[in-house]
Order: sequence, then structure tokens, then C-alpha cells
Amino acid sequence: MCGIFGITTNQNKPVGKIALEAIKRLEYRGYDSCGIVTQYESQLLVKKDAGKIEEINQRIKLDDFPNGSRLALAHTRWATHGPPTKINSHPHLDCDDKIAVIHNGILENFIELKEEMLSKGHVFKSETDTEIIPHLIEENLKKNVDLKDAVVNAVKKCKGAYGLAICHADYPDTIIAVRRESPLIVGIEEGKTTYCASDIPAFLPYTRNCYILEDDEIAILKAGTVEFYDVYNSNFPKKKDLHHVEWSMDAAEKGGYEHFMLKEIYEEPDALRRTLKVTNDSLKDFAKSLLSAENIYITAAGTSFYAALAGKFIITKFLGKYIQAIECSEFKTELINSLEKDSVIIAISQSGETIDLIEAIRWAKDYQASVKILSITNIVGSSITRHSDKILITQAGPEIGVAATKTFVTQVLIQSLVALEIAKLRKIESQNEIQKYYDALHSIPEVIERFLTKSVDLIKYIVRNLEKNLNFFFLARGISIATAKEGGLKLKEVACRFIEGYSAAHAKHGPISLVREGYPIIFIAPPDETYERLVGNLMEFKSRGGKIISLVVEDDKKIGDLSDITIRIPQPGDKYHSLFSPITFVPALQLLAYYAALEHNLDPDKPLNLAKTVTVH
Ligand code: F6R
Repeated sequence: MCGIFGITTNQNKPVGKIALEAIKRLEYRGYDSCGIVTQYESQLLVKKDAGKIEEINQRIKLDDFPNGSRLALAHTRWATHGPPTKINSHPHLDCDDKIAVIHNGILENFIELKEEMLSKGHVFKSETDTEIIPHLIEENLKKNVDLKDAVVNAVKKCKGAYGLAICHADYPDTIIAVRRESPLIVGIEEGKTTYCASDIPAFLPYTRNCYILEDDEIAILKAGTVEFYDVYNSNFPKKKDLHHVEWSMDAAEKGGYEHFMLKEIYEEPDALRRTLKVTNDSLKDFAKSLLSAENIYITAAGTSFYAALAGKFIITKFLGKYIQAIECSEFKTELINSLEKDSVIIAISQSGETIDLIEAIRWAKDYQASVKILSITNIVGSSITRHSDKILITQAGPEIGVAATKTFVTQVLIQSLVALEIAKLRKIESQNEIQKYYDALHSIPEVIERFLTKSVDLIKYIVRNLEKNLNFFFLARGISIATAKEGGLKLKEVACRFIEGYSAAHAKHGPISLVREGYPIIFIAPPDETYERLVGNLMEFKSRGGKIISLVVEDDKKIGDLSDITIRIPQPGDKYHSLFSPITFVPALQLLAYYAALEHNLDPDKPLNLAKTVTVH
């Protein structure tokens, strides 16, 4: 969940400044403390502290290092072991201040290892699990091995997850990067500069050429070169494929918007247009695997899980088989006695690194080798792809805001495209009918564009109206329950309000007792098969004094007329568009959450206690 960055160069570059800018671009991975180390004249110079990067920089000028320095490591932390304090922030050093380590992940056996090192006389300064690594390396170096072998022998003793970048005061141009279960990418400007980072945007202003490190691989970075080895076969270098990243830097920077969250909401139309171009062959492959499956599960976490709930609904409509949705953290517990060998699992993850999801699919494969994993992710080469039989990549581009926005809509879209492939293969609908669903999907980018252009003032007005209400509901039926849940999650996450997305029918069985005169309820009401029943639910709340805010399509009459405030999504009120309503309705709720965060003086890009990629259980 932390962000790590390293640079080694033979160019006259300000490495401290580059490292600082890089961790700012990684701040979404964690932002409770940070630090930078450079190597200069056989010494390590460290600056670190607790707080947000910009605040720390104001205090201690994080990037102010001597000119001749050619190497730097930088870290932005999301605390796991030990609170966010200066002492616990990275880098961590050995007893002689010669070895510096930055780490993303959790070392499970650090207590045993720490006791072992303490018994050998090592002195620890922090409460972190990470600090064990420089001491293990220091201990290994006493045995006259080189730095690479000292690192290899150190990580072989560690259990858990790590993306590590390491430097040594006596190795002026060397960074060692090694990973297990935590992402690590190496970027390269041939012959000049080599970078490592937990995410591509960190080095994207300098190079688009990169290598993706796999589990148990180690990379030796020198200025403009890199060599790769396997941790468990570290005598011979190995070849790896160079990837060229297509993302533009623009996509990773704020580009005039106040926050990444807002920028990424406005990028949704283009993200959807790109995703609409995903090739038919890969969609058809997915579709065929689902058609031949006996048992189908869909699993994910957080926003991706709500995208899964929407997708399951859309796919099931054309597949004619039940798909069971299970949160990935519960996957093993729920299926330990029942996962059949011919099961297919759809796994969805924006980052492709969510540890509970990786663990769920790994467990499934171990338990039944013939189980097939179909994954949907936004990140090429992410961990999930290594455990998958088939992969679909959403084309959302880099999502930096901690709150998932454009990835949600692209995840639902790509599942919708799979659903239509299934419809074609099964021939259950006429060509003409299927084409109408495609036309609806292709009109979505424009629908969202029109909504974003004309409805911002209304959303701001609603936010001001709801300002005093610490709690309220989003209520819905059918597929819109996924929309309601995602809306509730966004508000909890960025606006710190406990707002629930709930089934409108189920709300009668308890939550309705919260309703008083003026209590707000937001009804999500696309004109689908649940609409008439939802009108009935709405009346139940209205007659108890509830203040009704509704989210409906442009030409809606009934619910719009019954509501105190109506948000209208500019889309046709037919069944073709309604099936995909989570894609067109959720942006309104994302915008609501965004402006609610601003109303409460919260930074929507840095919600309290959160990190974008959750790589701990
Ligand atoms: C909410 C959010 C999280 C993620 C969840 C899964 O806005 O971003 O709930 O959706 O942590 O992350 P991925 O999709 O990377 O597996």
C-alpha cells in the first residue's frame, strides 16, 4: 500500500527533486509519512518525517541534497507496523547507516527475525517490520558475499509480501529491487537512467519503457542498465520483455482540475470510448468460457465488487445461468467445502494487486487445479494477470484518486460487452435486438458527457441541502442496488458520512424506522422492471415525511413528479439503456460524494486511513 521509487543516473539530474515529484505521484498509495535517501561521497543522506509530503517538504526541504548525488530512493507510507512517526517512516537503515531500505508490503515473520538479529547485537530504532531487512543484509555482508547475494539471502528468510528497493553507501550507482506479492516496475532510459517504482506514473515523465518484475525476481539497477535474476536461481541473469507504456503523462497529472477524483470523473467518457474498442476476440474467449462453465463465481473487493454485482446482473440476463457473487475476503471461507472442479471465477480488480483477491484465486487454483480464472483489471502485468487463464484489460488509464471512479464504469462496461458476446453466441436475441443494446452502450460516453456538462450546479445544490444530515440512504431495487451501494461507498470514503446503499424493499424491515419529517432518501430509479415496485417503496417513505431525492432518466414522469429534488440522467428511458444504468447513474453519485467532501473541507484525493491498493489482509 506504500509507494516506492528509486533512481540511478549518470546524467546531471537533480535526483532528490525527481524522487520528491515521483512520490507525490504515488501519494495515492499512502500518505501518512514519507522519506528520501540519497547516496553521496560514500554516505547515505536521509530526510524523512510524518505527515503529508507537501507539509513535510515545507518543513524540511525533502529534495535539498548535494548536487553530485546520482542515486535516490523515496517512499510514501501507509502505516501498518508502528504508527506514522518520523522514526517509523522509510527509509530504514542498518546499524552502521550504510544500507537503506524502502518497502511496500508486510513481513509476517519479522518478530522471529528481529529476535534473531537482536541476539546478534543489532540495534533497532523503529517499530516497523521493514527495519529487519537492512539488518539481515548487514549480517549477510559480514560473510563476504556481494550485495546482490546479501539481499537474496535476506529475502529468502522473509515470509510475507514485499516490494523492496535497497541501496548501499559503498555502491554509488546500484539499486537492488526485489518483489513478492507487491508490485514493482523498472523503467529505463538506456545508457542514462534507471528507475524502479511501485507504479508506472512515478517515472512516466522520463520514460515509457519498462520491465514488470514478477514474484521472486530481483533486479540490479545501475545508471541506464538493469539485470534480472531469480531469487531462487540467482547465479545467472535472465531475459525479460521490455514493455512500452501507452499512457500519456497528462492522464497521470491533474491537468487543471482541483483534484484527481474530479479529473477522473470527467475522463469517464473517454475511458469508456477506449474500453468499447476492446477486441471482440478476447471478449468472445471470455464469453465461451462462461458458456461452458458449470458453476460461475464473481469476486472482488470494494468498488470492484459493486461493479461485479452490476456485471453479474447483466451477464446473467443473457447467459441464463446463476452467477454467485462473493466478496474476495470471504471466498475461501464460503467455498472451502463446495468449490467444484469445473468452476469458472471472474475476478475483478482495478489494481490487480488486492491481496484478498489474489489469495482467493490462488486458493481456488490450489484447491481445484482445473478451475478457470477470468480476470478483469486496469493494469497490464499486475499480479492478478499472472494467476489468470484469460484477461480483459479495462482501458481506464491511470487512476490516481484513491476513490475508484472511471475504473468502476469501465469494469461494468467490459462485463456488458462480454454479456452481449454471450447473447450472440447463444442466439437468444435477434441481431436487430442485440444491435440496440450495442447502440445503447455506444451512446453512454455522450450521456455522461451531457450529464457532467449540465448537472454540476444541481449536485452542488443537493450537497448543500444534505449538509446537515449525517446519515441517509440510497434506496434501489434490482441492478440499481449495485449503483446504490457504490454511491454509499463513495460518500463514506471521501465525505466521511455513513451513507448506506440499500434495497428499497428490504429497507421496510428495519431502516425505515429512521425516517422523520425531512429525512432525506435518494431513490435510484431507472425505468426497468423494478420501477413500479420502487414507486410503491418511495410512497412508503414519502408518507412518513421523508424528503425524496430521485435519480431518474431525462423523460421520467412518475418518480420525478413525486420527488422533492430530481436528478435527471440524459438517456432514453428504454430497456436497452436501463440495463446499463449503473454506468450512467454512478457518475452522478461520484460527483455528489466529491462535492460533499469539499463541503466538509476534506481532500477527496486523500481520504483518511485509506490507500488505493490494499495489499494487506
Ligand atoms: C473505493 C475503492 C476501493 C477499491 C478496492 C478494490 O473507491 O477504490 O474500495 O475498489 O480496494 O481495489 P481493486 O479494484 O484495486 O482490487
